[in-house]
Amino acid sequence: MANASGFLTPSAPTLRRKLQPSTGVSRSGFCFSVGIFRRVVCSSGVVGSGTHVSPSQSRVPKLVSKGCKLVGCGSAVPSLSVSNDDLAKIVDTSDEWISVRTGIRNRRVISGKESLRNLAVEAARKALKMADVEPDDLDLILMCTSTPEDIFGDAPKVQRELGCTKSQLAHDITAACSGFVLGLFSASCYIRGGGLRNVLVIGADVLSRFVDWADRGTCILFGDAAGAVVVQACDSEEDGLLSFDLHSDGEGARHLGAPINDNEINDLLGSNGSALEFPPKRSSYTCVQMNGKEVFRFAVRCVPQSIESALEKADLKASDVDWLLLHQANQRIIDAVATRLEFPPEKVISNLANYGNTSAASIPLALDEAVRNGKVKTGHTIAASGFGAGLTWGSAVIRWG
Ligand code: ACO
Repeated sequence: MANASGFLTPSAPTLRRKLQPSTGVSRSGFCFSVGIFRRVVCSSGVVGSGTHVSPSQSRVPKLVSKGCKLVGCGSAVPSLSVSNDDLAKIVDTSDEWISVRTGIRNRRVISGKESLRNLAVEAARKALKMADVEPDDLDLILMCTSTPEDIFGDAPKVQRELGCTKSQLAHDITAACSGFVLGLFSASCYIRGGGLRNVLVIGADVLSRFVDWADRGTCILFGDAAGAVVVQACDSEEDGLLSFDLHSDGEGARHLGAPINDNEINDLLGSNGSALEFPPKRSSYTCVQMNGKEVFRFAVRCVPQSIESALEKADLKASDVDWLLLHQANQRIIDAVATRLEFPPEKVISNLANYGNTSAASIPLALDEAVRNGKVKTGHTIAASGFGAGLTWGSAVIRWG
């Protein structure tokens, strides 16, 4: 598939052979597909498919230039459903206001022993099952979240809970509601340029822990969830990650964020920025703060441009695409973008009414539902776009299966 930048989609004309299911292990301990062995660079040789990877061995990649495709998806949501009427009991709002302004009717919120990590692991297990991939066959886990249960990241703990016993890499990606699209892009880079074979991309957020439940302007919007996909190396002809278009703009951060508390920064620094106190106080973050109107304007302006750019890189027109799948933030944003790109309503995936804005989880959650209910079929093309805090935004044109 053509790519204007020539960077995000493989152009290797020699990658014509279909991948064999068997894998080999290089001396570095890194698993690769025998079927694309011709494209090996810096090869250190084949040790044998039965060789185990010692945790101390490097898994330095050895392969470049191949395709990658989505082979499994899964999702998980908390058991507690909170309706607009439930919210009207704690803030001055109504079902009518919320549903007319946003399209949201219910959202799921963690309770009891539920956690971000539980949701992520459940979604991941379902994706692995659909993909028929064992946890030990994963080369990388990318946990896209802005609400980790550990500031150093949750991915290694998810890796452990999934039962990955070999020395795969797992790390977090922080990019709010764009996180999942960035995760897909990272997976494609790791596979194409880094030679990995199976990458698990999880989008998971529990924003209910970081909203002010007394602020009707924000608390009505968010829900908790996790979604996951398995991205697998394949022959370039089967490539399913067709193009990306990614952006960020720190200038817009003032419109949406959950920054470290200002008074703590002021306590730490004098007017000239010099440290006044040592050791620093323990820090905390504010709840989500948002200028909804500005974020709305940004989304309606930037998302269509980004999708158009991704479609151009994939050498496709909107009419060639089967589904439009946007970050589920507001039905009015989804409708405005669809209208601008001339996507008819029947080609727009939306489950916002049931789950609200689940941040990095919203795209894989909606994708998983659409795949499992038979809407999205093998070979279908999807234009997906995430946007949110940072500000960050990005689009991906993908082919399912
Ligand atoms: N119930 C009733 N009234 C409300 C509520 C509520 N829940 N919230 C606000 N209002 C009131 C306001 O106080 C205001 O009243 P006023 O006119 O008397 O001052 C009035 O309704 C209009 O408020 P606006 O904020 O102007 O309402 P708007 O039409 O812009 O809708 C909304 C607000 C839904 C937040 C919208 O702006 C939006 O969806 N913005 C985009 C949010 C988004 O996409 N975020 C994505 C990223 S999230 C992330 O990255 C973490």
